[in-house]
Amino acid sequence: MSGRNWHAFRDVAPEDLPRPDLNPYLKLHREWGPPVLTASQALDFKGRWAAAFDRDAPLHVEIGPGNGFHLAGMAKKHPEWNWLGIEIRYKRVILCAKKIGVAGVGAQARICRYDAWWLDNLFDRGEIAGLYINHPDPWKKDADENKRLLSPFIAAWAARALRPGAPLRIKTDHRPNIDRMIESMAGLPLRLVRRTDDVRANGYPWPTEDDVVTNYESKFHKRGEPIFAMLAERVEGPAPDLDNQHPARGSGPLAEDAPEAPEGDDQA
Ligand SMILES: C[S@@+](CC[C@H](N)C(=O)[O-])C[C@H]1O[C@@H](n2cnc3c(N)ncnc32)[C@H](O)[C@@H]1O
Repeated sequence: MSGRNWHAFRDVAPEDLPRPDLNPYLKLHREWGPPVLTASQALDFKGRWAAAFDRDAPLHVEIGPGNGFHLAGMAKKHPEWNWLGIEIRYKRVILCAKKIGVAGVGAQARICRYDAWWLDNLFDRGEIAGLYINHPDPWKKDADENKRLLSPFIAAWAARALRPGAPLRIKTDHRPNIDRMIESMAGLPLRLVRRTDDVRANGYPWPTEDDVVTNYESKFHKRGEPIFAMLAERVEGPAPDLDNQHPARGSGPLAEDAPEAPEGDDQA
């Protein structure tokens, strides 16, 4: 134990903040209603996610969906599955909600404001049928190592939360992300199916028609920079234990309960 504050992730009420109006999206996300879920609402669905959709269907989860192009687009391609986005930034939660509305996928898609470092509190073992992580923040400096989402902690969590046969798909503009994730999977019941070091040249590790280009992906495409991708599969085997004291919990700007500063509209 390093002396950090190990409280679980939770909602913050605007009135509990010194400047409640700093980020208008905090209040908005609490008032929006479906498809938006607050952290408190989401925690109540652990082990019974079908109730959040009013229908029983395999649960597919995207971590950090940003503006929601991929989440809403994939929900449109696969209406037979339930789709849940986990996003820490209030404004992006609202952007996702709008994309879900425009795409007409409100029956099969939800967006939850939650911190990925506490996902084990949100899902039971084997509850997820597919997991997607697109362009996670790279945190390139060594000093930020503990903030990198693609890590042994997330690999172990994924091995617990995914059911056998479930795919894990990752796309990134930062090659070390893929290398680290593959290293992190060693000894876990996760099998690398295929990796691609330039999706434009070599295609995705999954059928192209079964994909939606994300906002960050199109930015890197426009700059002519390569996109890296990997497909893994949860295989049979015991779920690992988790390190409940991972340093990213309760630390770092994105994991705090305070609202982020208002940002520009580039994600719109
Ligand atoms: C670089 S953006 C990529 C957005 C989108 N996936 C795309 O490809 O366009 C990373 C996203 O992850 C979200 N994120 C970062 N840390 C997170 C955390 N701990 N929990 C949930 N979401 C997080 C950010 O708010 C942001 O939307």
